[in-house]
Amino acid sequence: MLIAWAKLRDFRTYTRASVELSPGITVIHGPNGAGKTNLLEGLYFGCTARSMRTTNEREMIRFGSSVARVVVGTVDDCGTHELSVGYGLDPPQGKPIKRMQVDGVPVERLSGDAPRPLIGVFFPDRLELVKGSPSLRRTHIDQLSAVIWPARSSTRSAYSHALLQRNALLSGIRAGRYSRASLPSWDAEVARLAVELRDQRSSATSLLAVPFRERARELGLSGSVGLEYRPRSTAVDVESFISELQQRTESDIDRGFSMHGPHRDEIAIVRDRRELRAYGSQGEQRLALLALLLAERDVLAEKHGHTPLMLLDDVMSELDSPRRNFLVDVLSSGGQSVITATSAAHVPKGHGVRTEITPEDVSRAQPPSNGLMLVPQ
Ligand SMILES: Nc1ncnc2c1ncn2[C@@H]1O[C@H](COP(=O)(O)OP(=O)(O)O)[C@@H](O)[C@H]1O
Ligand SMILES: [Mg+2]
Repeated sequence: MLIAWAKLRDFRTYTRASVELSPGITVIHGPNGAGKTNLLEGLYFGCTARSMRTTNEREMIRFGSSVARVVVGTVDDCGTHELSVGYGLDPPQGKPIKRMQVDGVPVERLSGDAPRPLIGVFFPDRLELVKGSPSLRRTHIDQLSAVIWPARSSTRSAYSHALLQRNALLSGIRAGRYSRASLPSWDAEVARLAVELRDQRSSATSLLAVPFRERARELGLSGSVGLEYRPRSTAVDVESFISELQQRTESDIDRGFSMHGPHRDEIAIVRDRRELRAYGSQGEQRLALLALLLAERDVLAEKHGHTPLMLLDDVMSELDSPRRNFLVDVLSSGGQSVITATSAAHVPKGHGVRTEITPEDVSRAQPPSNGLMLVPQ
C-alpha cells in the first residue's frame, strides 16, 4: 500500500497544495521554515486523522482560516482509494469538528484497517521516546503490539479501564465511602488483564530486540545495544499476580491508587547494560531512535508483508556520510519513504526510484477545487 498523491487545503502554511509521491524515496527539500515538516504532518494527518507533532490539533488550521483539509490517494494491488480528513472549528463556540471519509463514505476513525499504509515516523521531538519517561515507551510498544496483533489491540485500554475502577474503589475505601467487598473481583480483573498486557509486551519486545540490535550495530552505535522489557511483576500466572496485589492492598488503600502493575513497567534501551536514556549522548540517542524505527519497519514488513511508509523529518542533518548512505540503502530496499532535508544533496542517491520536491513546487501545483470538497464543512 502506497500513497500516490495528497492534496492539502488550509493546512499549516499551505493554502492549497498538491503533491505526488514517488513509490521509492521522495525528498522534500528547502530552507528552514519553508514548510517541509508541515507537508510531512499533512501526509500523516491525511492517513491517520492525527498529528504526529501536536495534540493541539487547531494548530494545523492555517492562520486566518477555519477548516484544514487533507485528501490522500492510496494504491495497492487491488486498486486505488481516497482518504479525506477535515478538521475545523464550529464558529459559535469554536467547537472542534473532525470528519473523515474513505472512498467518499463517512467513517468514525482511520484505523489500521483503513486502506492506508502503516507509518513509521522519525522527527526530532521523537527523541523523547528514547530519553523521556517510561510511559512513552509503554505506549509505543502497546501501539506496535496492536498493529502486529490486531485481535489483542483492546488489552491496554481494558487494563487501563479496570485499573481506573480499582483506583476509584481504593480511594473510596480510604475515604470510608466504600466497603472492601468488591475489591477481590477488581483484583482478579486487573490481574487477568495485567498478565495479558505483560505477555503482549514481552512478545513485542522479543520480536523487536533482534532487529534492533542489528540495526543499531549497522548504524554504528558502539557497544552492546539492546531492548529490554522490565516488567514490575514477577508473577507467573494470574493467581500469583492477584497475590502480589493483595500483599500491597494496605499501602494501595493508603495512597488511594494501585502502585503495582504494567502501568509501571519499563522498556529499557540499553548499551552495555546502562540505560541510553540516562547515559547516551544526544547523537547516540538519535541513532537508537532510528535503529528502533528501522527495526519496527523490519518486523512489520515481515508480519504484514507490507513495508511501512517512513516519514523522516530532518534525519540526515546529524548523520555522517557513511550513515546517510546506509540509511538510504535500507530505505531503497523496499517500501516508500518521504525524507525532509535543507538540501537535496544531504540525501544520497540510492538505487531505487527517487523524486525531489520543494514546498514551493507543491504550493504551485494547485489542485482542482472539487478534489477537496469531499469533506463537508
Ligand atoms: N497553522 C499555521 N498557519 C500558518 N503557518 C503556520 C501554521 N503553523 C505553523 N506555521 C508556519 O510554518 C512554518 C514552519 O514550517 P515547517 O514545515 O515547520 O518548516 P520546515 O521547512 O523548517 O520544516 C513557520 O514559519 C510557522 O510560522
Ligand atoms: Mg522542519
